[in-house]
Amino acid sequence: MANFFPRWTNWLPLKITIIVLVLTTAVTLGTWYYDTPKYTRVGYQPIQPVPFPHDIHVTQLGMDCRYCHSFVDVAAHSNLPNTQTCMACHQQVQKDNPKLEPVRASWKSGQPVEWVQIHRTPDYVFYNHAAHVNRGISCAVCHGQVNHMPVVYHAKPHSMAWCLECHRHVERFIRPQEEVFNLDWKPEDVKPAEFVAKYGQPEGVKDDWSKKQHLTQEEIGQTLKERWNVKPPVNCQGCHR
Ligand code: HEC
Ligand code: HEC
Ligand code: HEC
Ligand code: HEC
Ligand code: HEC
Repeated sequence: MANFFPRWTNWLPLKITIIVLVLTTAVTLGTWYYDTPKYTRVGYQPIQPVPFPHDIHVTQLGMDCRYCHSFVDVAAHSNLPNTQTCMACHQQVQKDNPKLEPVRASWKSGQPVEWVQIHRTPDYVFYNHAAHVNRGISCAVCHGQVNHMPVVYHAKPHSMAWCLECHRHVERFIRPQEEVFNLDWKPEDVKPAEFVAKYGQPEGVKDDWSKKQHLTQEEIGQTLKERWNVKPPVNCQGCHR
């Protein structure tokens, strides 16, 4: 009987088995890596030099985000406050609290407090705070209920899929501009008559929304989206410039 197949084909089944094994392992590891919270960074809460309580300063003392993050609605980057901002109060208040020692040391030395950055988009991604905050997107949507956090942690994934989920369905997230810094805002807080008087209602809606008991997030969102002609980029160059 003649040998129809060249000799090396004897190895073919073994080669195929090895390739399949390697691929399966790669896919499993990849899925595991990309699915873990570590990859999405949710829950990341580094130890800060001072455990700065947002809940006390925002909810209890009623401070606005912009008192400390003063560039958030005018610039691409949101800044952290400098030591002087803290010392405006803490020269008098809580003067001897040991938790504030790094702030006092920074005040004396002139060296800034070394806060650990929590949220970070890779350099190949273009991101701009002002473009979002001035279009009815609240801090809460992207950072969670910071106003109730004793210490800030990474509350949302900030992955590409997460950015796109909103860019494709802004109506699920957008809110009236004056509520962007009110992290506890709910759609039920909107008074339909006032809202419709101010923003109107989407084209093609027959019934009168100002007579409704409540407006849903989608109804509010659809109105604002049309009214402001909101069109977030969904093409690659929009975010990778
Ligand atoms: C009294 C000053 C002050 C106020 C008011 C304030 N923050 Fe902050 N914020 C800080 C400081 C200091 C840090 C850095 C320490 C930390 O990350 O815990 C910070 C950190 C953050 C971070 C994490 C930054 C990072 O590293 O990624 C977010 C998000 C944030 N603040 C959101 C808010 C929001 C939203 C509000 C309004 C509801 C607010 N902050 C009000 C002082 C303030
Ligand atoms: C507008 C005034 C004001 C500013 C500005 C301010 N704080 Fe405070 N902070 C207070 C007050 C008032 C308290 C005490 C609240 C209490 O006892 O309930 C306090 C409490 C604290 C505490 C103690 C919390 C505890 O559990 O012991 C820390 C830490 C602190 N602040 C850090 C900071 C840092 C860091 C900054 C600057 C980023 C800052 N604060 C800016 C008013 C301020
Ligand atoms: C659409 C989502 C989105 C909204 C809305 C948003 N942020 Fe952010 N925030 C981000 C992203 C993404 C980063 C990481 C940015 C980077 O790496 O340049 C970030 C970073 C930050 C930082 C850290 C900046 C630094 O350089 O360390 C602070 C502080 C912050 N945001 C505060 C706020 C405050 C306050 C608001 C509301 C007024 C807000 N953000 C609204 C997505 C958002
Ligand atoms: C909750 C909704 C929401 C999330 C989450 C969100 N965006 Fe946006 N994005 C918007 C809206 C609304 C606009 C404004 C569109 C307009 O003005 O027409 C916008 C605009 C932009 C723009 C155009 C801004 C400009 O100056 O041209 C870029 C780039 C962008 N987003 C990147 C991102 C990235 C990157 C992320 C994730 C880290 C992200 N966005 C997450 C809602 C969102
Ligand atoms: C709305 C903003 C946005 C748009 C539009 C967008 N990207 Fe991204 N992309 C991101 C962000 C944010 C990251 C970083 C994700 C992270 O850090 O986990 C990213 C990461 C990536 C990565 C790195 C892969 C990874 O998993 O780390 C690639 C490749 C990429 N994008 C390709 C694309 C392509 C191709 C398109 C067009 C089809 C596109 N992106 C459109 C926001 C966007």
